[in-house]
Amino acid sequence: MKIIITKDYEDMSRKAANIISAQVISKPNCVLGLATGSSPIGTYKQLIEWYNKGDLDFSEVTSVNLDEYVGLEVTNDQSYRYFMDNNLFNHINIDKNKTNVPNGLADDSEKECERYDNLIDSLGGIDLQLLGIGHNGHIGFNEPDSAFAVGTHTVELNQMTRDANARFFASIDEVPTHAITMGIKAIMQAKKVLLIASGDDKKEILKKAFFGPVTPEVPASILQLHPDFTLVTTCDLSK
Ligand code: GLP
Repeated sequence: MKIIITKDYEDMSRKAANIISAQVISKPNCVLGLATGSSPIGTYKQLIEWYNKGDLDFSEVTSVNLDEYVGLEVTNDQSYRYFMDNNLFNHINIDKNKTNVPNGLADDSEKECERYDNLIDSLGGIDLQLLGIGHNGHIGFNEPDSAFAVGTHTVELNQMTRDANARFFASIDEVPTHAITMGIKAIMQAKKVLLIASGDDKKEILKKAFFGPVTPEVPASILQLHPDFTLVTTCDLSK
């Protein structure tokens, strides 16, 4: 595990964007695992800036996103498809047909989960997976549980997660109760994993996840076992 401590959110975003750029430059047809939330917005802005300067080319990149709410139309500004289009895809030359987000409107969610895992397998897995972390240690929407959920699955969001995400919705009642999330297997099989976290409110969970026991109660803790895992954070974890 490599830990990079950064000055502030901008510095974190630039350093994370550097790692993603290095991936795209060294393997133009790579598979990027992408994330939503407030943490990666600055990273995406930086990538867009470098793309606009002509330093990055996404034309051969394929992306697979971690998760999606169940029941939100893609036109809903809180859906993760909408987030990705608006915060990244619409501003770079990625082929939209090569961008993948779980379908939260699928009639048969079990089939959709199976389709998503097969898709990741057919792409040969993920080259670089970007992650944020929830205050309860969730990655994607892999919530604390008594066992690690292996494949893509539908999850009931716990109260802490719904409360944390309520800031983006008009009221807590509008926050979806379920989501589809990539499981731990696809994340752990990614060749590289990059987790970004900013703000002192993330410090406690980062310490638990990366200096505590590996346990499904803190899903991110499994990343301690990943052979190429980098944490880029504004939190000084030595204090
Ligand atoms: C959400 C997402 C996660 C994200 C996390 C933290 O629930 N499903 O992928 O990492 O919350 O979000 P933020 O970066 O806004 O703190």
